[in-house]
Amino acid sequence: MVEGPATMDLTSDGLRAALRQHFGFDGFRPGQEAVVRSVLEGRSTVAVMPTGAGKSLCYQLPALLLRGTTLVVSPLVALMKDQVDSLQARGIPATFINSSIDDAEKARRLDGVRRGAFKLVYVAPERFRSNAFLDAIREVELGLYAVDEAHCISQWGHDFRPDYTRLGQVRWVLRPPRTLALTATATPEVRDDIVRVLRLKDPQVSVAGFDRPNLFFEVAQVANEHEKLVRIARACRDGGGVVYCATRRDVEKVAGLLDDRGIRALAYHAGMTDEERHRVQDAFMERDDAVVVATNAFGMGVDKPTIRFVAHFAIPKAMEAYYQEAGRAGRDGKPGRALLLFNHADVRLQERMIEGNHPSPRLVADLWERLSRLGGGEQRVGERELASSIGASPIEVGSALKHLERAGHVLRTPRSLVVQDPGAELRVDFEGMSMRRERELAMLRRMTNYAYHQGCRRAYLLAYFGDRPGTCSGCDVCSGPKDPPSQEELLQRRVRRRGATAPVVDEGPYDGAVFEALREMRTTLARAEGVPPYVIFSDRTLRAFARSLPETEASFLAVPGAGPAKWERYGPHVLATIAQARGGAARVAEPWSGRRRG
Ligand SMILES: Nc1ncnc2c1ncn2[C@@H]1O[C@H](COP(=O)(O)OP(=O)(O)OP(=O)(O)O)[C@@H](O)[C@H]1O
Ligand SMILES: [Mg+2]
Ligand SMILES: [Zn+2]
Repeated sequence: MVEGPATMDLTSDGLRAALRQHFGFDGFRPGQEAVVRSVLEGRSTVAVMPTGAGKSLCYQLPALLLRGTTLVVSPLVALMKDQVDSLQARGIPATFINSSIDDAEKARRLDGVRRGAFKLVYVAPERFRSNAFLDAIREVELGLYAVDEAHCISQWGHDFRPDYTRLGQVRWVLRPPRTLALTATATPEVRDDIVRVLRLKDPQVSVAGFDRPNLFFEVAQVANEHEKLVRIARACRDGGGVVYCATRRDVEKVAGLLDDRGIRALAYHAGMTDEERHRVQDAFMERDDAVVVATNAFGMGVDKPTIRFVAHFAIPKAMEAYYQEAGRAGRDGKPGRALLLFNHADVRLQERMIEGNHPSPRLVADLWERLSRLGGGEQRVGERELASSIGASPIEVGSALKHLERAGHVLRTPRSLVVQDPGAELRVDFEGMSMRRERELAMLRRMTNYAYHQGCRRAYLLAYFGDRPGTCSGCDVCSGPKDPPSQEELLQRRVRRRGATAPVVDEGPYDGAVFEALREMRTTLARAEGVPPYVIFSDRTLRAFARSLPETEASFLAVPGAGPAKWERYGPHVLATIAQARGGAARVAEPWSGRRRG
């Protein structure tokens, strides 16, 4: 029998020796040791580590050091065999039970499990639908209950699986001495759900391994497409890379425009045939300096270590997506560059896409009424036609149809649709839809905050993922931009900025009370308009107001970041707030009845 935790050597040296003995690895990767120790000490643990960081080892090593069997729940049925094969190759008794094996074999394995013949048993969550299986497992001495890909528990996660919601109850029935949940998804909502659904008490949450020291993070504020192309052309001097675009149309366009600049770029998106996509992938793998322009369909399974840069032509929809895509640069450990080309107009585009994917209940109801009037049976009616009949856009109608289809109200074929139950009451999950929409908008806001962040990019990224920021090994804020704007760009900007009177310097003392009052005003305005606060004014601009304390339109306009458009919308609020904070009489009477979106 393997020694129990009481006599186990939990020092770094002890754990490293065990790691070497069982796996032949020289040392732990970032985060692994802390998780292994926490598990061995008997704590419920949640481990958040990025893809490929080595999460499996965090339960495999304890499995060998603890008494009893480790039960591993994973949804990735296709990968179980490989995992188990490689454990067996190391002489570790392991097995898996899932739908890929027949009943006789299942029974045989289950027998082995009951006899305690395996240190590790991998199962898919569907297994627990069967009480027979649960009963069998109950007879086994469990050392550890490991839930891999634990984000599948959460509706907030990108891969919700209903079977995962049962795992908390399973834990309650099995009463394992310790539980470990593992995931690469780091949002606080997902983490909270994992803890709640698994009913973990006082868990140790460990987040690590998100830093990629060889990546240089930068955001280039660009005024237009031309500037974006200039930046990409410069990035290409570092070697090959990926340019991510938001839409297929952009992919085609940007690839063409780069070609015009003498940069041979491949194009890749999901609208191409399999054959075309394979050809592009092969061409990309073949040459170190190849550049591909792609939608987010590109990347999964493309393991090219020599990618020197990843540029985002437009802001992606969430930090998770951004970091995963940017992280494809510099897999070989050599310098890589993560460049986000930022223009606020792109945020609006993403917002519109999110809103288009989550149509309003009103629109869905209108569409349903229209469809019901067509009656049952097969209908040859296009999205365009439906759209014009209810006064919506074809995109909205397309996504409303998707929701109706999901709820079982219509069946769709490429050229026709069948209304299943004309006139029936709608079963669309509007609450869930609006929850997802709000969540996606919130994730986009966090992504946008990254672009506007005035501190270290790396610190922002790591904090977002919950990892502890160390020292920054390179970002445009800490180290200065890689490609400072050219003379031409600076001149352009100066021309654009002309018209303001003498600028107020961005230094020197300011009135703290006024600044705080202005921030509060900004929060209220932002909430009323449903936009992030910095869209209204940056902190820097608020500080400048608190410094120059404008009392007139002219002195308001002299503050950098406060143009005529801002005066139109917010000028009077600002002056009133300042006056009030300084003890003046001006009272602001409910002025923020701004337009609310959605
Ligand atoms: N301490 C270590 N030293 C060297 N290699 C390691 C170490 N820990 C793990 N590895 C290797 O790292 C690779 C990735 O590990 P693993 O599959 O566990 O990643 P993961 O975090 O589960 O990723 P994913 O999120 O994609 O599931 C494996 O080949 C594994 O053998
Ligand atoms: Mg894994
Ligand atoms: Zn930095």
